[in-house]
Amino acid sequence: MKIAILGSGGREHAIAFKISKSPKKKKIYCIPGNAGTKDIAENINLDINNFEEVYKFINKFKIELVIVGPEKPLVDGIVDFLKEKNIKVFGPNKKASQLEGSKIFTKKICEKYKIPTAKFGIFNSKFKANNFLEKANMPIVVKADGLAGGKGVYICENLESSKNAVDEIFGGKFGIAENVLIEEFLEGNEMSYFVLADGKNFKSFNTAQDHKRVGEGDIGKNTGGMGAYAPSGLNNPELENKIINQIVKPTFKAIREIGESYTGFLYVGLMIKNNEPYLIEFNVRMGDPECQTILPLLKTDLLSLILSCCENDLKNHEIKWFDKKSLCIVLCSKGYPDKYSKNIIINNFDKLKTDDSNYIFHAGTKESKKEILATGGRVLNFVSISSSFKKSRNNTIKKINELDWKKGFFRKDIGYKIIDQ
Ligand code: AMP
Ligand code: GLY
Repeated sequence: MKIAILGSGGREHAIAFKISKSPKKKKIYCIPGNAGTKDIAENINLDINNFEEVYKFINKFKIELVIVGPEKPLVDGIVDFLKEKNIKVFGPNKKASQLEGSKIFTKKICEKYKIPTAKFGIFNSKFKANNFLEKANMPIVVKADGLAGGKGVYICENLESSKNAVDEIFGGKFGIAENVLIEEFLEGNEMSYFVLADGKNFKSFNTAQDHKRVGEGDIGKNTGGMGAYAPSGLNNPELENKIINQIVKPTFKAIREIGESYTGFLYVGLMIKNNEPYLIEFNVRMGDPECQTILPLLKTDLLSLILSCCENDLKNHEIKWFDKKSLCIVLCSKGYPDKYSKNIIINNFDKLKTDDSNYIFHAGTKESKKEILATGGRVLNFVSISSSFKKSRNNTIKKINELDWKKGFFRKDIGYKIIDQ
């Protein structure tokens, strides 16, 4: 079977890697891919946001399945576009992708279906938002409605910073804003819960916790993710029951009631307080680096699962996991998430050995003249699975130190809440 994977990050490398192990695959194309996917797939340098261009390639090369990694093409409707042309494609359609594409869409579902989430208000002018903020308790959370590349959420400690957030959002920092969302600040511990859905049924797809802040101890600027571990230490049968019955099922019901169905991964971002789940956000895709962290634990053939979703047949497939602890550390370019240099050579890469317990997934890399160059802020994902998170973290750090890349940095404390406290 010929498969195309859209995207260029660590998530897409991990998906391509798992699929390369499937007895069903024949050939994988990564559009555009990275230096890591080049070894297991053919990289095709196309813009995945140009749907016509993507379609031309898929049609010409007779691709039988398209897997969409990132959110933007999903939210922009690539699934609808390709399905109309009779291409098999894995991911939610445009309407269902509003679960990530519009935070207000999701909040309205929460309201209607009584899904536990932070109390909120939607304001269509700066004046109304500021009026509300004058009387609100701090801290408070101000959010842009649409996709903002992980930057549209402001946790505000005081009135001044909350008004500044409203200013930036209505000022067009994340595109034209008709509304701003203001939310109660939730306290607790975060957990990410993943679901695989086939349009009719869904199954749990493990849990994880990521570290979004750039600095050790979870301080400093927000990033795309500096590391993660799976499974989350917070999950338990009682909590999972609540997540499924109070959040996941009502959400899929809401999607059904607008005449749509949901196929693909759903990332349920939660705050857990006293074993009660509160929805923070949905993402309509796997997380990055959560995907790289979770997939090495998957025993079942990923391609069979994805195909079963495309054929509304997930209920006949069991999802099996290795009973191990997975931990991922992201090696970044110095300076990230601010300015960093690009096209920096990563020496020693060939010396690094990987095996069934130690993985390296590329993110911002490209190959040029047989050398691996760092092209992005997040460069390489080092993942290790073992009997304990501590061992996994030690193994991961050892590998990064073997690489000894002077232009990179990473957090040594990934998983500290479960390992060190
Ligand atoms: P989001 O893009 O909605 O996931 O928000 C990014 C991060 O902001 C989340 O992972 C949380 O750490 C934090 N966050 C978002 N909303 C809230 C909230 N209502 N209360 C506390 N923290 C929040
Ligand atoms: N790691 C967070 C995300 O993928 O959105």
